[in-house]
Amino acid sequence: MSGAGGHGALMDAVYRRQRFIYDATRKYFLLGRDELLDALAPEPGDRVLEIGCGTGRNLILAARKWPEARFFGVDISTEMLRTARGKVEAAGLSDRIRLAQGDATAFDPEALFGEARFERVFLSYSLSMIPDWRGALERALDVTAPEGRLMVVDFGMQDGLPGWVRAGLARFLALYHVEPQPALPDELREKAAERGREARVVSRHADWSRELEAGPITPRGPTAARDAGAASEAG
Ligand SMILES: C[S@@+](CC[C@H](N)C(=O)[O-])C[C@H]1O[C@@H](n2cnc3c(N)ncnc32)[C@H](O)[C@@H]1O
Repeated sequence: MSGAGGHGALMDAVYRRQRFIYDATRKYFLLGRDELLDALAPEPGDRVLEIGCGTGRNLILAARKWPEARFFGVDISTEMLRTARGKVEAAGLSDRIRLAQGDATAFDPEALFGEARFERVFLSYSLSMIPDWRGALERALDVTAPEGRLMVVDFGMQDGLPGWVRAGLARFLALYHVEPQPALPDELREKAAERGREARVVSRHADWSRELEAGPITPRGPTAARDAGAASEAG
């Protein structure tokens, strides 16, 4: 079975072979993923959802790091899910990580997992591959529990790097249908405010990557402390 509709088929085509070398190659330029996993800090029993979970790499590391939380992953690509299922099983984590196919803009977690809301929801380098990334952001906020946190890590606009580096990276990312979104910080701030949430946006590594978060108005958890000594506000 192929992924949902045209975009699912495109993602399957991108990852049909790439999935075998994905984890080994992406670690060099998908910066900030491990920092996001450190900052998840779910409480025992909390539900943690990754949207666009790919090979399951993040979910497996997070499940090992936070053994008392429950993990869920959604991806549009059946090819990526095939790899994710194999890795989760090999890691002996099938009872703690549940995976399902779904489109980030329209998935129904109640139907997929029997869970309507999650205490932590995260997107790691997936928004920049979703044409309707605004819709995906909206959906992610809708499935975040009232006291929960939505966390995003993705490409920035590399504002601190020379033009030739930016142009080269943009060409490379376009090969994989990746499009960093300059409007992401403002969009998150706006959508968070509409829901009575507070947004935080941090740019790192000369704006190679950005970490974004929407949580309850009063910050809690380790991210706030981490950001106090961190890089500049983005966008
Ligand atoms: C660059 S990979 C990131 C994978 C993983 N999050 C990571 O950090 O390694 C992007 C993932 O987003 C998925 N994706 C793209 N569009 C999607 C959509 N509309 N709904 C769900 N997943 C999507 C792709 O299939 C792919 O697995």
